[in-house]
Amino acid sequence: MRPTDPPRTFRVKSFGCQMNVYDGERIGELLAEHGIAPAPDGEDADLVVLNTCHIREKAAEKVYSDIGRITKAGREAGKTPLIAVAGCVAQAEGEDIMTRAPAVSMVVGPQAYHRLPQMLDLAVAGRRVTDTDMPAIAKFTALPERRRVAASAFLTVQEGCDKFCTYCVVPYTRGAEISRPWTDLVAEACRLVEAGAREITLLGQNVSAWRGEDRRGRAVGLADLIRELARIDGLARIRYTTSHPADMDEALIAAHGEVDKLMPFLHLPVQAGSDRILKAMNRSHTADGYLRLLDRFRTARPDIALSGDFIVGFPGETEADFAATLALVDSVGYAQAFSFKYSPRPGTPAAGLPDQVPREVMDERLHRLQAALNRDQLAFNRASVGRRCAVLVERRGKAPGQWLGKSPWLQSVWFDKPGAGIGDLVPVELVEAGPNSLGARAVGHA
Ligand code: 5AD
Ligand code: SF4
Repeated sequence: MRPTDPPRTFRVKSFGCQMNVYDGERIGELLAEHGIAPAPDGEDADLVVLNTCHIREKAAEKVYSDIGRITKAGREAGKTPLIAVAGCVAQAEGEDIMTRAPAVSMVVGPQAYHRLPQMLDLAVAGRRVTDTDMPAIAKFTALPERRRVAASAFLTVQEGCDKFCTYCVVPYTRGAEISRPWTDLVAEACRLVEAGAREITLLGQNVSAWRGEDRRGRAVGLADLIRELARIDGLARIRYTTSHPADMDEALIAAHGEVDKLMPFLHLPVQAGSDRILKAMNRSHTADGYLRLLDRFRTARPDIALSGDFIVGFPGETEADFAATLALVDSVGYAQAFSFKYSPRPGTPAAGLPDQVPREVMDERLHRLQAALNRDQLAFNRASVGRRCAVLVERRGKAPGQWLGKSPWLQSVWFDKPGAGIGDLVPVELVEAGPNSLGARAVGHA
């Protein structure tokens, strides 16, 4: 590649999960710290970072077509943007990307992006660089402090996964489980609150496996961390995602009943309702074990809203297996959920299994599952009408004086209140419900 001028503007495009959204924000902060400005809306950037996701199919193909589009737009505008591929596709297919996409000058994995500025210096000098090392925790100490954040901010507390569900690439792309240290997390949470956060969502691929030592050297888990963060003045709400049923301990369940700032919401993926399929997925729990676990959360916090992830069409899934998934959905009554068609990921054990389910069958099952989940989501929202609660304001609505925010149960809520502002906790009564949002009326007290 030819040497080029140092970039003046950048754009980060993040795909996939909330962890990637967090990483994308941090990459942006890092570039800004190095004197590169976010490109104004509608303008081509000098540096484009594609922060990719590898969890389901076509992700890599999407990256190649994005690269094509960016180079073409650059050519038409008479410039050659620098392109960096970050995220899980970078981790999984680094060398392939370098071979297939000559326009890419940097490939950087999710554990190495703190080194982007140094990579950028080499790229400007005309070199092509790949960094997919996994140096445990180094990234977080190398990243700049967070100065301005949204009312609802993410905080990565844990990365990686040791569960090895047979369909999943995460243990390979994000590596083994690591927990960030207690003191770092408490300090970063305080800074987030100073920078404007009223709500913090603790992120991890397997967040409930977070482990650490407190200041006195005591072994602590996620529930202890939540209790400590709840002591921060100005922090109103705490959430966490994503959990695995095997790591939900009594302390975390109890925290849901005792810590007011911990929101009544639990995202706990189950993936399937058939024990045979759960076993083939290496999930280490049964459908009944999952349901009993949810009951314990409900006992601790009766109004807890439940969310899950589902995969239809795992290899060998029969109609009877799928019926068990529908039965599980019926018995839980999810407030919201994510559902996906199984996608064979290269290098995962399930990709080599016989009896891959035909596409049409998967399409049809996904359709039926989503109909059930949508029905339950609407029912949950309708049952919320009449409830009083606080809404954390996150954005302006379309009309003047209209605001959008979240209820404690993670529902999107809109309401009118002249004079309110982002970051306010506004007491409302929920008055109307749609499938994806609710309307509310501001009241004196929640
Ligand atoms: N195919 C389909 N869905 C998948 N997920 C993870 N791997 C796959 C795959 N190979 C889903 C799971 C997980 C969510 C983040 O993505 O439901 O909980
Ligand atoms: Fe993937 Fe399973 Fe780990 Fe979740 S728990 S990240 S699905 S391996």
